[in-house]
Amino acid sequence: MQFSVAIDGPAAAGKGTISKALAARFGFAHLDTGLLYRASARKVLETGWSPQVAAEAVTADDLARDGLRTQAVAELASQVATIPEVRAALVAFQRSFARRDGGAVLDGRDIGTVICPTAQVKLYVTASADVRARRRYDELRESGQAADFDGVLDEVLKRDARDMGRADAPMRAAEDAVVIDTTDMDIAAALAAAVSVVEEKMEGTAT
Ligand code: DC
Repeated sequence: MQFSVAIDGPAAAGKGTISKALAARFGFAHLDTGLLYRASARKVLETGWSPQVAAEAVTADDLARDGLRTQAVAELASQVATIPEVRAALVAFQRSFARRDGGAVLDGRDIGTVICPTAQVKLYVTASADVRARRRYDELRESGQAADFDGVLDEVLKRDARDMGRADAPMRAAEDAVVIDTTDMDIAAALAAAVSVVEEKMEGTAT
């Protein structure tokens, strides 16, 4: 069975948590596509290669490496993601993942619009910048890292502006995406909303 779930939205809106939980619940494979951009950025930092060459060299193994979750890598990932050649280098990997048998959940910024425009389910998971910065700040503090709230908010706003403002595959909700705004929702409520969209679609597909 081929069934793809495309989940887009800005950083720290909850799309990673929702994607993992949906994949576990329905037995689908999950790809966090941000890791491809992070792995490309990391290769640039390590090797000094151009972003395009780095993106062309990214393999599945690179996605499982340590050190992809730092702020420095996230910031550079958002920058290399504005380069059309970098995006083009990463398309085939994502599309073939989406087509795998047994179902797939992909989360990112352009999954419903560019990578899988025919996905059976498209979700756009968002939340206010303030709430997303608060979540990121709490995560950093809980993991023992130093952080100041205004700095984290600034980072979130800068990354949103870059991800939404780029010319190639900007972050936006597909016209047929279901928007889940998690500003005033806990994880359980957001997940329940996502599950009901998938179940409804699966029932419709089965009949
Ligand atoms: O989801 P993330 O924070 O790991 O993503 C890091 C950066 O990668 C993000 O700021 C923009 C880019 N990205 C993208 O352009 N398209 C995607 N499908 C996923 C991520």
